[in-house]
Amino acid sequence: MTSRKKIEAMLYSTANSTRAMAYAPYSHFTVGAAVLCENGEIYTGANIENASYPVGICAERVALSKAISEGKRPVAIAVAGGKANEDAILCPPCGICLQFMKEFMTSECPVILSHEETKNLGELLPFGFDGDKLK
Ligand code: THU
Repeated sequence: MTSRKKIEAMLYSTANSTRAMAYAPYSHFTVGAAVLCENGEIYTGANIENASYPVGICAERVALSKAISEGKRPVAIAVAGGKANEDAILCPPCGICLQFMKEFMTSECPVILSHEETKNLGELLPFGFDGDKLK
């Protein structure tokens, strides 16, 4: 296994184990995310739901916000989600999370979706909005 593949496998396993931290009493769908930062640190996050449904936040934005608010910059993210207490299914990030990623990650950054499936951010959000449009 190449070292890149090993890092991707480790990041996905970390995302999958972080599903245990989800607060998902409404959907019973648990998601974990693991963000690798340019300095090698890893930040994790899980989805956090709310009785007022739209207030809930996805695992990806929890993990990314933890990293970014500590001054770290993400270079890869793994996402694992599925029904609580069941194995993960392929769980691509929602559109809001992809847009959130686009602010901090290049199109080449890997988004690891399973032990078999990795896309880069540009494949998942090929025509997204960015700050250049505001200049
Ligand atoms: N969810 C995530 O955490 N990430 C995604 O990219 C998609 C959905 C969460 C939100 C909600 O708590 C549950 O999964 C069901 O939508």
